[in-house]
This record gives sequence, C-alpha cells and structure tokens, in this order.
Amino acid sequence: MHIAVIGTGYVGLVSGACLADFGMKVTCVDINEEKIKKLKKGEVPFYEPGLEELVKKNLKAERLFFTTRLDEAVKNSLVIFICVGTPSKPDGSADLSQIKSVALSLAEIIDDYKVIVTKSTVPVGTNRWIKSLIDANKKSNAPVDVISNPEFLREGAAVEDFMHPDRVIIGGESSYAIAIIKDIYRPLYLAETPFIITNLETAELIKYASNAFLATKITFINEIANFCEKVGADVTVVSKGMGLDPRIGPKFLNPGPGFGGSCFPKDVRALIHQGKTSNSPFKLLEAVIEVNEKQKLRAIEKLRELCGDLKGKTIAVLGLSFKPNTSDVRESPALTIIPELLKAGAKVKAYDPAAIEEFKKIVKDKVIYASSPLECVRDTDALLILTEWNEFRFLDLSQIKKLMKTPVLVDMRNIYEPSVLKNLGFKYSGIGRKVIA
Ligand SMILES: NC(=O)c1ccc[n+]([C@@H]2O[C@H](COP(=O)([O-])OP(=O)(O)OC[C@H]3O[C@@H](n4cnc5c(N)ncnc54)[C@H](O)[C@@H]3O)[C@@H](O)[C@H]2O)c1
Repeated sequence: MHIAVIGTGYVGLVSGACLADFGMKVTCVDINEEKIKKLKKGEVPFYEPGLEELVKKNLKAERLFFTTRLDEAVKNSLVIFICVGTPSKPDGSADLSQIKSVALSLAEIIDDYKVIVTKSTVPVGTNRWIKSLIDANKKSNAPVDVISNPEFLREGAAVEDFMHPDRVIIGGESSYAIAIIKDIYRPLYLAETPFIITNLETAELIKYASNAFLATKITFINEIANFCEKVGADVTVVSKGMGLDPRIGPKFLNPGPGFGGSCFPKDVRALIHQGKTSNSPFKLLEAVIEVNEKQKLRAIEKLRELCGDLKGKTIAVLGLSFKPNTSDVRESPALTIIPELLKAGAKVKAYDPAAIEEFKKIVKDKVIYASSPLECVRDTDALLILTEWNEFRFLDLSQIKKLMKTPVLVDMRNIYEPSVLKNLGFKYSGIGRKVIA
C-alpha cells in the first residue's frame, strides 16, 4: 500500500512515520522546502519524544520518503492524507485556505481512483466541500472518495498516541473507501482499538466536541480552584475527590494558567463560530473562552499579591511551551503572561527545556533567555512556574532561595507542596490552595 501525507507538521509527520512503521510506503509532502530538506536527512524540525528515531528508522528502511512535489507523492498512492493546518481566522472560524489549496492542487493531478482522507480538524461540512471542489475542478474522470478521519494525538505523546489510540473515527459514504482505510489501520484493529464508522458530519463533529469538552473540563476546575482560594478549600483534594467518581474521571482536572496549544483554543472558537452560523449558539463555550482568557492573568495577580508592584522587579519564568514535552508555543499561556509582565514594567528571565527557539521567534529579545533553571532564577524577585516539565519537579529549592533576591514562588501547576515551601522560608502561591505569604 502506497500512501501520501500532505503536510509534515505534528500530525502529518507523526502519521507518516507511524504508518511507515506499520509497513506501508509513505511519501510525505510539504511546501516548506527547509523542512523537507531537514527531514530527508532524518532531522525533525520540532521536539516530539521518539519521533526522530522513528523517522530515521523508516527512512533507512526505505518506507518513508519526503518531497516538495505533490504530484510525486500522489502518483503511486491510493490513499492521500490531508494534514495541513486549519488555524483561526480573526472571527474565530477555521481558516480553510490550506485545505482549499491542497484540494485544488489534487484536482489538477489526480488521474486515477484516490481516497482522500482528512486528518486536519475541519468544520462540519468541509469534507463534502473538499469532494465538490475536486469534482468541479479535476482534469480527469478519475473518481475520488473522501473520508473524515480526525486525529486525536497529543503533542508530547504523539507517537504513543498514534500507535495506541483510544479510538479510530472513520466517516464516509463509500463502503469501498471505508474498507481501504480500515485496512490501513488493521494493526490497530488487531490490537482491539475501538473503531467508529459513521457519516462525514458525525466524524467531523466528534473531534470538535471532544476538544471542546476537554477545554470545558479544564476551565471548570480552574474556576473551582479560584473559588477554593476564597473559601479555604484545597483544589488538589477536591479534584481527587471528584475524579474518583467514574462518571467524572480524574483526567483534565488539574488547574493551571489556562489552556493553550494549537488545538483547544482554535477548535473551541471554531465550534462557537459553527454554532452561530447554524443558529445553534454555544453559550457554554463562549464562557469557556472568556474564563480561560481571565485565567491566564491569575499568574500576574498572584505575583502582585506576593511582590506588590511589579515595576522594576525581575521575574524568572520556568516553562514557555503550552505543556511539557513539546517545543510548541502556539497559544501558550506564556505568550499572554510574559507580555503582561513586561507591560507592568517587570524584567523577565525565562527558561524552557525545548521551546526557547520557538518562543524567541515571537517575543524576540524582550526577554532574557537562560540556559538552566538555576541561571534563570539568579537575582530575581520571584519565580513563576508555568509548565510542568519533569525537570521543574525536583528543583534544588535551597539553592534557588540562595540565588534569588527574594524567595517568592508562584506555582501555576501545583507541583510543589505549600508546607515544604513554608519550611524553606518561601512566600508561595499555588493555584486553588493555601497561600504562604
Ligand atoms: N498538533 C496537534 O496536536 C493536533 C492534534 C490533532 C489534530 N490536529 C489538527 O491537525 C491539523 C494539522 O496540525 P499540525 O499541528 O500538524 O499543523 P502544523 O502547522 O504543524 O503543520 C501543517 C503543515 O502543513 C504544511 N502545508 C501547508 N499547506 C500545504 C500544502 N498546500 N501542501 C503541503 N503542505 C502544506 C505546512 O508547511 C506545515 O508543515 C490541524 O487541523 C490541527 O487542528 C493537530
């Protein structure tokens, strides 16, 4: 089986490398020449655990190929996965320009039966639109089928998630095309992964509904955490108590500085937009976005509570990526919080194990970048932890206290115990628990 994967970002590259590892011949195509040049040498342009090894292994085995030529990738492929970006437009709707450009290019070159599989997250109705675009513009009479196959991998655990997904969703109308896609995923079927075969609209919506639900769950516990601070409750115990109810479950009940990343914010906004245009508004999700924006500013409020006016203070920030184990900073809370600190007149020193280069592309040299947590905290007035990288879980706090001008820790991921910090002589504020002032 030959497969083409269009777009070699997080989803495309992981899908391509994993499908090659299943034993298929996969050609990945991207318009970014620099990226393809690197990938041909086995260099992965972003940090994702295990991915570089997988790419190198399958390049060597001659099952994985990279090109900038769409026609080359499509020529021998029966199945074409679309994995390009669908970012937010200013009105919150999904920008489908990358999808449109791919569909029109495919219409030019397809001269044989193809199954077009959309892995990108796209609004309900998009797969039908892709088919109509291709049918209306194609140069040959070759038939195409479209399949919606949304992807649920999590950055930071993407290879593991692709290889062991909770479910595979296949939406389509052609039973022949559905059978081909089921065959591609046979290794997962054999491992008893649940498959849901449904229509295009349902498959498209499963993805949005899942992300919107998870974003809502995070936002819910963030509001509970804020309330805990007012009434003397401990959110970590509240979460535990709630999560033991199997109807609720323990995951996504950890409060933090607000959700970010390349998916949750944009997908919630896109679903809100779809609701509006279908005259079925999502009031709950509108509140989720509003509460999440406010949550990002909790970090600033907490710093002010412990340090007073931030003007002239130096703040050390640990964690720039939106979550651990990724270099991705798209819509990371740090991108809101750090500019707010600068606006308040503070100086910022920052450290992240993988995301500094990506962060620098946006925030440039307005921040001093450190090469280790200890270097980051030296001569600072407060330490702010934004991302729960493992590296930050066992910091040498006594050493940190010695290096800082004043021992103040705002821990937006609750990775430290307030009582431990109290004994060490820190002022400490976690989230949704006792403040040591
Ligand atoms: N990142 C995630 O964790 C994740 C998880 C599930 C679903 N998704 C969805 O998957 C899609 C892709 O996300 P991503 O994070 O991989 O995006 P990305 O921005 O990392 O990658 C997209 C890639 O597509 C390439 N591209 C754009 N137009 C192209 C064209 N015409 N031909 C060839 N290549 C082209 C870009 O150069 C880029 O390399 C989005 O819809 C996203 O919502 C992402």
